[in-house]
Amino acid sequence: MSSNPVPISEQVVFDPEAWVNGPPHDMFKQMRSECPIHWSPNMVDFPDEAGFWSVTKAADIKEVSLDWKTYSSAIGGITAANEAIPLELMQAMFIAMDPPKHDRQKALFQRGFTPKRIAEHEDRIREIARNVLDRLEGQEECDLVSNVAQPVVSRVICSFMGLPPEDDLIWAQLISAVVSSSDETVNPDGIQAGIQKNLPIIVERAKALIEERRANPTDDLTSVLVHAEVDGEKLDENEIIMGFFLLMTAGNDSTKATYCSAMRALIEHPEERAKLIADPSLIASAVEESLRMFPAFAHFRRTATEDTVLHGQEIKKGDKVVMWYPSSNRDEDVYEDPDVFDVERNPEHQAFGAGGRHFCLGAALARLELKILLEETLTRYPEMEFAGEPAYLVSGFVNQLRTLPVRLGPLATH
Ligand code: HEM
Repeated sequence: MSSNPVPISEQVVFDPEAWVNGPPHDMFKQMRSECPIHWSPNMVDFPDEAGFWSVTKAADIKEVSLDWKTYSSAIGGITAANEAIPLELMQAMFIAMDPPKHDRQKALFQRGFTPKRIAEHEDRIREIARNVLDRLEGQEECDLVSNVAQPVVSRVICSFMGLPPEDDLIWAQLISAVVSSSDETVNPDGIQAGIQKNLPIIVERAKALIEERRANPTDDLTSVLVHAEVDGEKLDENEIIMGFFLLMTAGNDSTKATYCSAMRALIEHPEERAKLIADPSLIASAVEESLRMFPAFAHFRRTATEDTVLHGQEIKKGDKVVMWYPSSNRDEDVYEDPDVFDVERNPEHQAFGAGGRHFCLGAALARLELKILLEETLTRYPEMEFAGEPAYLVSGFVNQLRTLPVRLGPLATH
């Protein structure tokens, strides 16, 4: 039995109110047990939009992810709201394409993102993390979100894209305003106004970079996009701009979110943190457990291409089908004590998607960044404590803390 008193039929999954303290885990638990494929008739932030199906169990999300013919990424968009980003821009990202176009565009990048190729960046990523942590020395307190996570992950992705360090924060803020939130500290006039204001700025800045790379090719990923040929044809202008946007988005918010949630859980559970300090080889397992419990993206969405049935529920052609990873990653049919943070669990999970064509391109990079960030933070500040209340960004898409104030504690000598 769930403790949630609201009848399942009246739950509005996408109500920002439900996300003020992070994902609505009680609501998802109730859905998994009473109504695993659940219909929400509307979306509070997007009143003109059709409702959607919520898929909450791991096996069902896997079925949807693997069957791209029935559940398309190309029709209607890949987040619950169609209107979040204009459709012609959305569909220029390969995350919002179906095979064969998707596979051809993804292949452009796959070689550069294999675990082996990513491992070659380990020293550089560690240097970035160390430089950022060095800046904290002498300080008693800091905000792990803005003082550690954001500068590290921004520098990593911006250096992949060939962007100068002085622009890291500007990009992080622009991207955050478009993808992350209904949170009023990010978008005081609402999410739609935030997107309308900031997306054109991103597009203009990306266009300027593209012009620059056309004139002066370099060896960064922006240049790869500009000069790439798929079947003898260059990507079109929107595909280049939105390919840039996709990599910047995926690289900026995601790893930041999981690192901060992991640090919060480790401060809340000093006995788990002590295990990592005693045996740092457990950090890789702690990374997987953090991805499981705190998946950076709360959902991705598909659209049914034909009438179908999922877990006994009829789904009509054209219906939106939303996969909730904070739910599937705590599915009682898969995990024992799913709400317990156990750094030794080393679980499989769906934080990077449930397999299939759209499985996260950046999984190896994200895992490496998370491992390095946890290693470097725990080695320096093994006694870190909360210095204030952590707070979530209000968002049904990015599962992220807005602030995580900490007292650093004594700097460990190594
Ligand atoms: C903790 C960090 C991250 C998480 C939790 C995450 C999660 C995800 C998820 C859930 C998907 C969609 C899967 C699906 O629809 O089946 C995805 C796709 C993607 N991710 Fe990540 N991601 C992370 C980091 C990154 C990074 C660092 C990059 C690269 C710079 C990246 C690039 C991408 C791209 C390009 C796609 C689209 C793949 C496709 O459509 O084929 N991600 N990611």
